[in-house]
Amino acid sequence: MTESIAQVLLSEEELQAIVRRLAEEIGRTYAGKRLLLVGILKGAFVFLSDLIRLLPIPCEVEFLRVSSYRNSTEGGELEVLQDLALPLEEYDVLVVEDILDSGRTLSAMLKHLQTKNPRSLALCALLDKPARRQVPVEADFVGVRIPDAFVVGYGLDYAQRWRSLPYVACLELRD
Ligand code: IMP
Ligand code: MG
Repeated sequence: MTESIAQVLLSEEELQAIVRRLAEEIGRTYAGKRLLLVGILKGAFVFLSDLIRLLPIPCEVEFLRVSSYRNSTEGGELEVLQDLALPLEEYDVLVVEDILDSGRTLSAMLKHLQTKNPRSLALCALLDKPARRQVPVEADFVGVRIPDAFVVGYGLDYAQRWRSLPYVACLELRD
C-alpha cells in the first residue's frame, strides 16, 4: 500500500486565516473569564499551539489523551489514557480538537469532562465532517466544514504519519 497526497484542501494561508478568526471569536466569548483550553492529543497539538499565540486573552492549557472509537462499531466506556491533572470547578473549559467526525469520541469525552463540574464546557473543532456524524455532537466554534474525505497534516495523521505537513491534504491510498 502506498500513500500519497491527492490534493491540498487547506493551504497554510487558509489555515492561518481560519485560526485567526477562531481566536478572535474565542477571545470575545471568554473575555474576563478563567479560560482553560484542553487540547486532545495527539491530533490537536499543532492547531492548539497556533491558536493560543493568536488568542487576545490569557488562558491556561492542559491536554487529554483518550482512545478513539474509530475501529469499534459500538460505543462503550471511554478509555482515558492521560487525564487532566487539575480540578475544573474554577474554569471555563474549551475542548480543542482537530476534527469532528462520527462524534463518538467527543461525545464520550465531553461527558467525562462534565463529571468534573467545570463552570462551563464548550468545544472548538478546526475541521468538521458533518456528513459522517453518528452521535449528535456539535462544536461551539468550527474552523471549517469539509466533505467526507480522509485528511492529514497540520497535526492530523494516518497511522501516525503526515502530522508535520504545514497544510491539510486529502490522502490517497493505492496498492
Ligand atoms: P470521532 O468524531 O469520534 O469519529 O473521532 C474523531 C477522531 O478521529 C479525530 O479526533 C481524529 O483523531 C480521527 N479522525 C477522524 N477523521 C479523520 C481524518 O480525516 N483524518 C485523520 N484523523 C481523523
Ligand atoms: Mg483527535
